[in-house]
Amino acid sequence: MPTKALLLAGRVTPETFFQLRGPYDARINFRNRLERPHMHAWLCENPTGVDALSWKELPTPEPKAGEVLLEIKAASLNFPDILIVQNKYQMKPALPFVPGSEYAGTVQAVGEGVSHLKVGQAVACLSGTGGFATHTLAPAALCMPLPPGFPMVDAAAFIMIYATSHHALVDRAQLKAGETVLVLGAAGGVGTSAIQIAKAMGAKVIAAASTQEKCDLCTSIGADATINYSTENLREAVKALTDGKGPDVIYDPVGGDFAEPAFRSIAWRGRYLVVGFASGPIPALPFNLALLKGASIVGVFWGDFAKREPKANAAMMGQLAQWYGQGKIKPVIDRTMPMADLKAAYAHMGSRGVMGKLVMVN
Ligand SMILES: NC(=O)c1ccc[n+]([C@@H]2O[C@H](COP(=O)([O-])OP(=O)(O)OC[C@H]3O[C@@H](n4cnc5c(N)ncnc54)[C@H](OP(=O)(O)O)[C@@H]3O)[C@@H](O)[C@H]2O)c1
Repeated sequence: MPTKALLLAGRVTPETFFQLRGPYDARINFRNRLERPHMHAWLCENPTGVDALSWKELPTPEPKAGEVLLEIKAASLNFPDILIVQNKYQMKPALPFVPGSEYAGTVQAVGEGVSHLKVGQAVACLSGTGGFATHTLAPAALCMPLPPGFPMVDAAAFIMIYATSHHALVDRAQLKAGETVLVLGAAGGVGTSAIQIAKAMGAKVIAAASTQEKCDLCTSIGADATINYSTENLREAVKALTDGKGPDVIYDPVGGDFAEPAFRSIAWRGRYLVVGFASGPIPALPFNLALLKGASIVGVFWGDFAKREPKANAAMMGQLAQWYGQGKIKPVIDRTMPMADLKAAYAHMGSRGVMGKLVMVN
């Protein structure tokens, strides 16, 4: 019988075990296993894709200065979570790392200098990594305390999509009540949030998506009209729905082949929001199209906005929390799945099947 099995069966003492095992590291590791509580996490040791992730047992870490230890209750999948495990995202964390950009949970321990959070407090956090686990160390400065009763699943699916769409529509596009917004990839994570925010601002929303089921979802959350761009001609449909005028604002998280026909449809003084490239290819647009419509191509990079303009970002998050409380916005949850099923969740998102947000739960 192996020595560890003898120990577990009570046939050797821990001391004898350490003498039998010999190496100091093994002793330390085993003492840690006996004395320190353990967590589980999806570890990315080799960023070659989802298949290389492994669900590992690790010692629960202690928070350092400025950090908190969180027990994770829910973590949502965002598009960058797919890219980061393939080494294709702009942020490349040191290896090994735990993916999972956005999560919510309760504070288990606070590090030195952390005064605004306390043990037991419920928080949401978007730190880029760490969320696909049972526990994580999170920078205290990035943790948003949750009001009592805020569901953990909603909290884990909130910051990225609403912050991106608020920054895009309110700040970058200066959307006004009565204007028309065309949302591409409208049934996805950021797409559903863009529909809700545009409606909260009094705009008319045309939602474009690839299936009837996705279009129906968009209608159910407030879209005034929908276009199934798998079966309809995007330009003709937009023209018909806007009496030939075109949308004032186009929200594009998809990129690829629809960008040029969409931009050709834009209204005079229109604003085209470059949000992302979920379809893969980064489109190129002829500049003359912008000239002909007096239109603007407007970049949206919420992550950098939050870093460069933290006060404006905090004010924006305050308004979003208020809108949530008033029922104006609420994350659309495609489904929740157990944390251990992360690979199946990635496959569902990769197959373009998710409507709204997919949330892993512990
Ligand atoms: N700029 C920023 O600050 C910012 C912030 C957050 C996210 N983003 C970006 O926004 C994009 C969307 O993010 P998300 O979280 O909303 O993703 P998502 O939930 O997966 O939605 C993406 C949508 O894109 C469409 N799509 C078209 N071709 C696709 C393909 N080949 N694979 C997957 N989806 C495809 C799908 O809608 P249909 O099937 O209806 O076409 C899908 O619903 C990503 O590129 C992400 O990086 C940018």
